[in-house]
Amino acid sequence: MSLHSSLQGALPQLESLKFSDVLTVGLITVAVVLLTLPLWDRLASVPGPFWARWSPIWMIYHSLKGDMHREMIQLHEKYGGIVRTGPFEVLRFTFWVLYLIGSPDVIGELTFSKRFGFIEEASDKGTFAQIEGALGSASWVGQVPWLYWIHDWLSPLIGNRLKVTNRHGMLREIAGKEVSERSSVQSAHPDMLDKFMDVHRKQPEKFDSMAVLSMAASNIFAGSDTTAISISAIMYHLCKNPQYKQKLLEEIDAEAAAGRISRTNVPYKVAQNMHYLQVCIQEGLRCHPAVGMSMPRVVPPEGLVVNGKRIPGGVSLSTDSV
Ligand code: HEM
Repeated sequence: MSLHSSLQGALPQLESLKFSDVLTVGLITVAVVLLTLPLWDRLASVPGPFWARWSPIWMIYHSLKGDMHREMIQLHEKYGGIVRTGPFEVLRFTFWVLYLIGSPDVIGELTFSKRFGFIEEASDKGTFAQIEGALGSASWVGQVPWLYWIHDWLSPLIGNRLKVTNRHGMLREIAGKEVSERSSVQSAHPDMLDKFMDVHRKQPEKFDSMAVLSMAASNIFAGSDTTAISISAIMYHLCKNPQYKQKLLEEIDAEAAAGRISRTNVPYKVAQNMHYLQVCIQEGLRCHPAVGMSMPRVVPPEGLVVNGKRIPGGVSLSTDSV
């Protein structure tokens, strides 16, 4: 019997099905799915919000709302050390006890040995608005990466609808200008662009000139806002707690008196050995993490045991940053 005639034979029977039949089949299906859940849902034993169990909707909702950092603390209080945040995603909690427009200058120095001069011009030329838009968009699009690629594929028809693609805008132009100037002019001191260029010269097929440009632009995106908010938070907490600020000032004065640092020169190695400074930085980052999101990594094929729970290979396992 041909497929066509089989279908023709089955259709009248389908049409004669009553609503109550469909409802019964539907209810039986839901019951079977729920009863067998622990068998096929490999994360069934990990507690978490109801919606997070079924879809990335929970992550998208809180990423868009911008309250993920608060939600993560509440999850930890409600469910304990390990929480399910998506169908294939688990979050583990670790326990560990404004200089706004100036921060791109820090990144400019690190990456290109050059300040962008935003403070002198008293304007960031829209840089922070662009970074904020792109990172805000990336935080929820990152929960459903396939959407990014569909958008990428459809963009010749629908244009650019996601702010995360703003990475290709003005900041990339700044980075592009610096990269092309570096081909002819040597930097004043070794910087990150030198290192990117080095890798490119050694392995041009793996790290092409587009990758050099992308890494330089990524630095501005990834480093500006994070540095700004971290320095601001550390300063804020020191001002709120003058007794700690005093202790830090004493350490700074002692290092200066010993000639190891000056107003214009604090070598990295010396700063690393300034115990109280390091404590203040770490505590500031703990109190106000710049990236208030989960930091996912894929569990290796053999799986992992975390907080006494078996997490299968391939699941996305995050560590909280708050
Ligand atoms: C206090 C300051 C900073 C904080 C708190 C911070 C935090 C982070 C975090 C949490 C990530 C994601 C890690 C992950 O993969 O899970 C990241 C990635 C990154 N950071 Fe930072 N960061 C800071 C400063 C910087 C600076 C100064 C630079 C560059 C000059 C930088 C460049 C990058 C880059 C290139 C990435 C990778 C971005 C990507 O995946 O494309 N960061 N940072």
